[in-house]
Amino acid sequence: MVRVIVDGTPVDVPAGFSALQACEAAGKEIPRFCYHERLSVAGNCRMCLVQVVRAPKPVASCGFPVSEGMEILTDTEVVRRARRAVMEFLLINHPLDCPICDQGGECDLQDQAYGYGSGMSRYHEAKRAVTDKDLGPLVKTVMTRCIQCTRCVRFTTEVAGTPELGMVSRGENAEITTYVEKALTSELSGNLIDICPVGALTAKPSAFHARSWEYKKTDSIDVMDAVGTNIQIQARGGEVMRIVPRVNDEVNEEWLSDKGRFSVDGLKRKRLDRPWVRVHGKLMEASWQDAFVALARRMDGVSGYQIGAIAGDLCDAESLCALKDLMTALGSPNLDCRQDNAWYDLSAREGYLFNSSIPDIENADALLLVGTHPRHEAPVLNARIRKRFLEAGRGGFPIAMIGHPTTDPTYHAELLGDGPDILEKLLDGTHPFAERLQNAKRPMIIVGHGALTRHDAASIYEACKKLAAQAGAVSEGWNGLNILHTAASRVGALDLGFLPGARGRSATGMLRGGVDILWLLGADELPIDKIGADTFVVYQGHHGDAAAARADIILPGAAYTEKPGTYVNTEGRVQRSFRAVFPPGEAREDWRILRAFSEVVGKKLPYDTLESLRERMAEVNPVFRLIGGLARPTAQIEGQTITEASASVVSATQEEGFAASPFRPVMQDYYQTNTISRASPTMADCSRVYGPARAVAAE
Ligand code: SF4
Ligand code: SF4
Ligand code: FES
Repeated sequence: MVRVIVDGTPVDVPAGFSALQACEAAGKEIPRFCYHERLSVAGNCRMCLVQVVRAPKPVASCGFPVSEGMEILTDTEVVRRARRAVMEFLLINHPLDCPICDQGGECDLQDQAYGYGSGMSRYHEAKRAVTDKDLGPLVKTVMTRCIQCTRCVRFTTEVAGTPELGMVSRGENAEITTYVEKALTSELSGNLIDICPVGALTAKPSAFHARSWEYKKTDSIDVMDAVGTNIQIQARGGEVMRIVPRVNDEVNEEWLSDKGRFSVDGLKRKRLDRPWVRVHGKLMEASWQDAFVALARRMDGVSGYQIGAIAGDLCDAESLCALKDLMTALGSPNLDCRQDNAWYDLSAREGYLFNSSIPDIENADALLLVGTHPRHEAPVLNARIRKRFLEAGRGGFPIAMIGHPTTDPTYHAELLGDGPDILEKLLDGTHPFAERLQNAKRPMIIVGHGALTRHDAASIYEACKKLAAQAGAVSEGWNGLNILHTAASRVGALDLGFLPGARGRSATGMLRGGVDILWLLGADELPIDKIGADTFVVYQGHHGDAAAARADIILPGAAYTEKPGTYVNTEGRVQRSFRAVFPPGEAREDWRILRAFSEVVGKKLPYDTLESLRERMAEVNPVFRLIGGLARPTAQIEGQTITEASASVVSATQEEGFAASPFRPVMQDYYQTNTISRASPTMADCSRVYGPARAVAAE
């Protein structure tokens, strides 16, 4: 540690800290534009000037390292004059169009001009103008407002790993550009909007829609992937206008994927806002009571074994728990949360989790990716892998991949092969990468759903498990064998045991006419055309997608922004979201729909409030008591391990040995993977613009 004195107050900070960090540690606010904690230091705006005793002139504190006994002054006349001068220079060419600027009210330049500027300018010359750039459907540019802090250049280069922005020319002609005009290709490009301290980069889809102070802000969890990114829903007048990330260093740092941020307009389109009942082959509007009565009549006399339920990818744990309880009360063992027919090792909770945890990616020292392309499946988690990859100072981070990436993973990954057979060579040590895994102290293996949805998934996972054991990836304090999920609901559903019970049918079995009545809870990523013609389909969900069109009864539910919910991310971290707006029309929170129907059908669920339902979830699995943290107990489902309950059914389709076929990509199109993103015009634009470059080909 190093002792420095900030405005007369001694403070101990680690060696290598900058003067700016030392000032922050002493509780002093230092204005800045170019400095950002998660980016390299550029030192080009000079707004962070402070006085260092015995230094001949003010220094830029963000790039000035501390030394023992250094005395820093942050509030002297010299510093105040220096800041006023920097502000005056910055504003020489600034358009000052705050009244029509989307950044107004959340602009660092506005705030700092008010706090540290002089209130007048001595410059009356004509201001320069810079041509706007077209960066694609997501990020709008007004480049005349740019103050050349280069945060955007550093973000795309360092965090996103797509170095597409740069600064050209010098002095008054300097400007930020993509060199050759092109759309940004990062799945994290929306973060540029947050990182730009002024209104040069703003959100294109929501341009001129609202002012920042008009929003009602609600904490929530992103459901577009299984990372559990912490987000804030910003709504005005009952309509969700914007979604921005919240800082959580354990999960997403301060980043959010483009799908999580910009699918927001999909929440307003194709909504199911009233119940529907099919009468003589035609869907007719109905009241809740009529829909419930029609469904209860259809269920009358049907054995529980002929009723089944499949849960979709966006469900909250509350509705999963209520549906499981309802099915159990009806005597049905036919439950499944695996629309993709994935296989998991259900002998312990660790078998289906990202065990290393997301922050500990930074402590790994070798990585093997098996049947996964994290750039599309979890862009924010991929940024952590890249972050570790860039930390060359802490030793190399060899990365290898089995399965062909369809785009640049954003780090150097050695491609070992297309299919699982390469695992044999890694196991017998004949492949050179085996040695790199052996030499690593904290090796990681990430198994994705490109591997887990195959018929040889069990063999692949078993091989990965053996490889992890050989490489010492599972030891005291470190579990490097990880599953990367893509569905926000999956881990919560597995934790609740939303899987086939004894003699129960899997999702595939139910689709193939295995049940008379099929309840789809937001389940749309299924081969709907495979549902038997005689199967009576109940669709409970929020969007009129393919499954709703096939349904005989539609029960309109709430989207994730319209209900309080619990989601468990790929690491097994239980997180809660809150209601930002009310569901449209007659739509209701999903667990309340299930609770109300249970009474009509004479199987009343024993909870009337959200709190008592959450207590029930914790009874089913105690992990639901630990909010925000990481629990690692072996999952116990009401006295049974998950294996006893359902492993036999879950493993029924598995084959011995490896199949010869290569791994397939998990996503056909990153931008359109669920009902909300498919309803979003912005995501449709992205899909059209980026096409085969980022939308992964099906084969
Ligand atoms: Fe005003 Fe900030 Fe927009 Fe500039 S960037 S016009 S200071 S709100
Ligand atoms: Fe900085 Fe924004 Fe200009 Fe990029 S566009 S250099 S982030 S002001
Ligand atoms: Fe230090 Fe910009 S914040 S020079």
